Amino acid sequence: MTDSDLRVGVIGVGMMGADHAERIAHRTSGARLVAVSDPDTARAGALAERYEGVRAVADPLALVADGDVDAVVIASPGFVHEEQVLACLEHGKPTLCEKPLTMDGESSLRLVRAEQSGGRPLVQLGFMRRFDPEYVRLKTLVDSGRLGRLLVLHNTHRNKDVPASFRSEMIVRDSLVHEVDVARFVFGEEITEITVYSPTPTSAAAEGVVDPQVSVFRMAGGAVVTNEVFVKNQVGYEVRCEAVCERGSAMAGRPWADLYTTAAGGDDGAWGGSIPADFRDRFALAYDRELQAWADASRRGVVVGPTTWDGYAATVVCEAGMESLVSGEPVAVRLADREGAG
Ligand SMILES: NC(=O)c1ccc[n+]([C@@H]2O[C@H](COP(=O)([O-])OP(=O)(O)OC[C@H]3O[C@@H](n4cnc5c(N)ncnc54)[C@H](O)[C@@H]3O)[C@@H](O)[C@H]2O)c1
Repeated sequence: MTDSDLRVGVIGVGMMGADHAERIAHRTSGARLVAVSDPDTARAGALAERYEGVRAVADPLALVADGDVDAVVIASPGFVHEEQVLACLEHGKPTLCEKPLTMDGESSLRLVRAEQSGGRPLVQLGFMRRFDPEYVRLKTLVDSGRLGRLLVLHNTHRNKDVPASFRSEMIVRDSLVHEVDVARFVFGEEITEITVYSPTPTSAAAEGVVDPQVSVFRMAGGAVVTNEVFVKNQVGYEVRCEAVCERGSAMAGRPWADLYTTAAGGDDGAWGGSIPADFRDRFALAYDRELQAWADASRRGVVVGPTTWDGYAATVVCEAGMESLVSGEPVAVRLADREGAG
């Protein structure tokens, strides 16, 4: 710990915020956890007590304005992100905002414009797969041209289980949003159209919930991306991305990465592997690298990784996806002019 450490405050210390707080306190060099805020003051207080020199601040906007906080991690629910990101922009504080940027395209665009009018980028979006070593290798390989031109991307995103309150729209907005960002990241292009199909649901799905969902993105250059999102697969957290190119293919999230053989459990030999139950295990390294990259960039006064524009574009694609979920028809994605006033 040194005087030049980035002094970080975390807003919202539920599942994700507490995970990030621990990461900043113990696994991010050049950064120091100094404050946490949550309307659940007992939760914030208990978390603060775990770390030396960390204060619990009742009002999240007071944490943003605090002169002893250099930078802010926002891990509150998406519907309060607009107000909190805006406060960070007004105070000129580097910010890591968990996805989604906001709940709709209009409010996300307001943040893009507010950041642009401030004259310098300050916000990194929490699309952590861009920092996962396997996704980074896939992207590097595709960009190298060794496999030829990228034609198709296939994404698979399965969770073991979700609460019954996790409705069909949330599968689009909270789960598929990661595939939206992956497609834009790997292709380096916008998505122009989305279709969401509703296969026969698993009998494990809550009443009226479409699970699994299969969706197709059309990219600006004409390529196609397929996605399967299945949030009650009952097995574990499985996330894969396969890039199909003209002269080869590459995959992130290979299920056979930790294959083992065993003589246990019977006379015959057997083979198998393990599947993490939770996204925090699968993407632990990605989150570590995301936070480290954010802290390093914040100290240099720059933003690396996904931006407010990436958050805005993902929100607009998901809005179109929720429309398609209802109609079953392709829905065009209409983005504002990136630099313009619209
Ligand atoms: N990148 C990822 O992989 C990933 C994974 C999970 C969640 N998330 C995102 O992280 C954010 C938090 O999700 P979570 O799963 O931790 O939710 P959670 O419900 O576990 O935690 C949210 C916390 O925010 C607090 N809160 C509520 N209103 C607030 C306010 N106005 N200001 C500050 N805090 C407030 C709640 O009391 C709670 O402690 C969401 O935006 C979610 O989409 C991202």
